[in-house]
Formats: sequence, structure tokens, C-alpha cells
Amino acid sequence: MEDFLPLKRIDHIEFYCGNAKQSAIYYQYAFGFKLTGYAGLETGNKENASYVLEQGKIRFILTSPYTDDSFISQHVKKHGDGVRDVAFEVDDAVKAFQETVKRGAIAVLEPTVFDTPEGKFVKSSIKTFGDTIHSFIDRKNYSGKLFPGFVDATNRSLKGITDTGLKSVDHMVGNVELGKMLNWVEFYANTLGFSQLLSFDDKDISTDYTALMSKVMQNNTGKIKIPINEPAPGKKKSQIEEYLDFYKTPGIQHIALTTPNIIETVKLLNERGVEFLTVPGTYYSELENRIGKIDEDIKELGKLGILVDKDEDGYLLQIFTKPVEDRPTLFFEIIQRKGARSFGKGNFKALFESIEREQSLRGTL
Ligand code: FE2
Repeated sequence: MEDFLPLKRIDHIEFYCGNAKQSAIYYQYAFGFKLTGYAGLETGNKENASYVLEQGKIRFILTSPYTDDSFISQHVKKHGDGVRDVAFEVDDAVKAFQETVKRGAIAVLEPTVFDTPEGKFVKSSIKTFGDTIHSFIDRKNYSGKLFPGFVDATNRSLKGITDTGLKSVDHMVGNVELGKMLNWVEFYANTLGFSQLLSFDDKDISTDYTALMSKVMQNNTGKIKIPINEPAPGKKKSQIEEYLDFYKTPGIQHIALTTPNIIETVKLLNERGVEFLTVPGTYYSELENRIGKIDEDIKELGKLGILVDKDEDGYLLQIFTKPVEDRPTLFFEIIQRKGARSFGKGNFKALFESIEREQSLRGTL
């Protein structure tokens, strides 16, 4: 069957935040991103300031409002800092909009052509869960590197900061409300033409307290993967409910970033103040029995808190940060795949227990 929505790549992920100027320093210093673009008052934008950050193929935009009555202000007030837009590059942003709206998507931005000296840039957007949107970006007739209205800001990038080896977005996870997972699975299937990769239910991944259900949706090429989580009834409040309580609506829970050398990446992130979840030492004494021989030194993985899981195609190494805002909402995963195409189901129990220790400290369990 023909793919009615051919997505080329994740063009960028846009975050709405309270103070983009300071967040831009955090992502540069702690995660090793380069500041490449800027838009704001000096460039004629009276609504908001935006900073473009890049590392490998990953592109983030951090945006803060100038006024108290803008939609961005309301978004920040309601959600705290968080992901507003997961934008896809497409060949035709008009067709992407028409095909998805025809299939039930709610329009956010009608196809809009930005006629610039660097050519035509076309953008359209549709709604997904919560206040999150997907934009379609067509830059095939646009020679600019960034976005219309942005200026190059590489000269403002922090000096002397190396990258941390992050290369691309592996997947992004959405948290939705209890009982709504299947609706959103159907949305990605029917409206965006995604298919389901694999699923695990609460029997696989419950602890005494936390339980969740999750289904992984991916686009036609398999390059774009969006797992959808919903809470499952447990004895106490699950991490998904905690997220929904603080974010106020469904939204992006975590973004997984790839590295070809997780040990080196995590060492650098540690030195620069990124905080990670830890698991008990017993996890590592049982690891070889569970996984078999791997290339990495288990002692070293244990020191850094890196987790390992395997499937029929190989294994993967992964680690999760603590939330990167004061509200316990969005966090990052760092992942290195060595053949495995799954998401670390074997680590969920150890991980959930770790998250519950954090929840207990926050008084939200
Ligand atoms: Fe993940």
C-alpha cells in the first residue's frame, strides 16, 4: 500500500520553556549541543525568543514568550517546560496536512508558505495528544540551514564545550490518560499511517506500585518510533500518573538519544551535571546470567549505572536521566543499540523500582 504520509526524518523538537536563554546554556553545557540559531526581538520577533541547538542529527528549538497573554505563556504556565512540537520533515507539507486532516487530525496551522530570499519554506501542523503537536516541514525549495526569521548564532555558542557523542533521536514516548492508549494507537495508525511494532502489557512491567501499558507505533520506514504509555491500576500512584498530575495533560514523557559509545557519553554527561537514575548493585551481579557475554566491562557499566537488555536481534545499553525540569515530567534516555530493536523491557522492573525511590523522595508515590 502506498504511504500517504512519507516522513523523511524528525526535523526538530520544539520545547516551550520559561527561560529559553538559560535553558540553552544547560543543553549546551550539560548535553554538548551547539547553539546554531536565534530568533527574538533583535531579529524582529516580538512574540517569542527561540534558540536552535544541534548535535549530530538532533535539532532542538527552545522557545520562551515575551508576553503574558500569548499561547506560549499559557502553555508554560500549565505544563512547565515541555515539548510542544515534534516536527517531521516531509516533501510536501500541504499534502501531509491534507492527508492527515482528511483522516481526522485536528488542524493547528494550515499550510503556510514563508517566501524568503533563501527560497520557499512550507509548514503545517496538526494536533496530537494533550497540547502536543506534529508540524510538517517542507524545506526542499529552501536553501537556508535553519528556519525563516532565524539568524545564525554559532558565534554565541559556548566556547570550549565538546559534544557528548549524541547522534540522533531513537524514539519519543507519549504518556496518555488511563484508558486512552488504544485511541492514540488508532490515531497514529489511521491518521498518520503508522503501524504497531510490539507491545507489552502490565503483567510484564508492573512492580508493587507502578504499572503501565505501552504500545510502540512506528512510521512506514521504521525511522520514527513513538511508544504510547498509559497508566495501569497499581497499589499506589504510578510514574505515568505522577507525570499527568504535574504536566496536567498527556505529553512527551521522554526522548531517547542515540550514541555510538554510551560509556564515553555518560561519563561526559555525569561530569557536566546530568543526573541519572541508579539501580541496585544486584542488577549487575545478575546481568551476565540474564544477558550473556557482551563487549562492555560490566564493572564499568555498574559504576555508571548503564542498563543492558537483549532481544532476538542483539542487545542494547541504556540509561535514563532524572527529570530535566523541577516538575517531575520530561526526561531523557541515552541509548546505544548493538543489534537490538526493542526498548529495554527487561530493565523495566529495575527501572520502575528506581523511579519509585525517587517518587517516594518527592512524596508523590
Ligand atoms: Fe525509551
